[in-house]
Amino acid sequence: MTQPEPQPKVEAQRIRIFDTTLRDGEQSPGVALNHTQKLEIAHTLARLGVDVIEAGFPIASPGDLEGVSRIAREVRGPVIAGLARANKADIEAAAKAVEAAAKPRIHTFIATSPIHMAKKLQLEPDAVVERAVMAVKLARSFVDDVEFSAEDATRSDWAFLSRIFRAAVEAGATTINVPDTVGYTTPDEMRDLFAFLKAELPDHVYLSSHCHDDLGMAVANSIAAVEGGARQVECTINGIGERAGNASLEEIVMAFHTRRDHYPFETGIRSREIYRASRLVSRLSGMPVQPNKAIVGDNAFAHESGIHQDGVIKARETYEIMNAELVGREAAVLVMGKHSGRAAFRKALTDLGYQDIPDDKVQYLFGRFKDLADRKGQLYADDLRALVDARTDVPQT
Ligand code: KIV
Ligand code: ZN
Repeated sequence: MTQPEPQPKVEAQRIRIFDTTLRDGEQSPGVALNHTQKLEIAHTLARLGVDVIEAGFPIASPGDLEGVSRIAREVRGPVIAGLARANKADIEAAAKAVEAAAKPRIHTFIATSPIHMAKKLQLEPDAVVERAVMAVKLARSFVDDVEFSAEDATRSDWAFLSRIFRAAVEAGATTINVPDTVGYTTPDEMRDLFAFLKAELPDHVYLSSHCHDDLGMAVANSIAAVEGGARQVECTINGIGERAGNASLEEIVMAFHTRRDHYPFETGIRSREIYRASRLVSRLSGMPVQPNKAIVGDNAFAHESGIHQDGVIKARETYEIMNAELVGREAAVLVMGKHSGRAAFRKALTDLGYQDIPDDKVQYLFGRFKDLADRKGQLYADDLRALVDARTDVPQT
């Protein structure tokens, strides 16, 4: 029996996926990608169907500027964005880097929380607004598509956020991004903040979320932002990024897809490309994916306990809420270990070509398999073959 596909309740709204693997993701400690690697990832992101690729921070180094330029020249499909602080040199570097893109964007930002303004920028709030306006106007002199971010927005005063965002929109910003820079906010706060900003800003403005994972809530906060009115979500493959990382692209996309009966949102992501993108980013960044990571971890579609294995053999939907193939992976794996049951053991033998073993012999082998699993942990195909091919006469009692 297969479960009915969940049906959306209302027509889904399209959410833009802004991928920042090559910018915030590359800010993961220890990660440094060369141009060729960046280009390969950018092509993979385009094939995945992201709407925007944030290709880097061009002022950071001549290498970064060249990396963004190459992507702008060679990758077609998504918007190509370059990041810039709210100053002339950064914006000119970003403009130069994205100039060859078919769809260029400059993403400029300045901090708005009391602590960042007082301690880091050492600027009064009025001066911060002035800088934001200057930056957006300058960026608009180069490109039509300008995104403005208020760094540390979730620890900023809401009235001040509304003020600076309205000023940025008047100066020409088309997307307004609300970063939870230090991963501090909660889903209900995020939903309320977006609902507030949506009411404060003109309808044509694209509201965007950008969540970090310091409290493990980046994905939940991003989804809450969308419920509050965000129409762009900033995220990274495998959730890589500064400190605890950014919201994970694959988790947000598959949450919307799997629960489309609940969330009236859809993305343009080709889900079957997810696993390939995850493997590539992990390999090139040198950042392994934790085995129990949702969607792309080694164990995300593996079943070890006998009860679960028996259920999955009878109907995958008993313990799987999505098919592995949907994200470009092999079908679910039954891990052979000490928790495995007889049904999974029998299936594993059949899959290895041992269809005709009589029941009493399977029963006997199952006992030996359990002894071996107790000692070895996980057992592989060769272990099972060795068990069967050893002298395996069932002892006569
Ligand atoms: O986390 C953050 O605030 C950022 C901005 C530059 C958007 O990455
Ligand atoms: Zn960030």
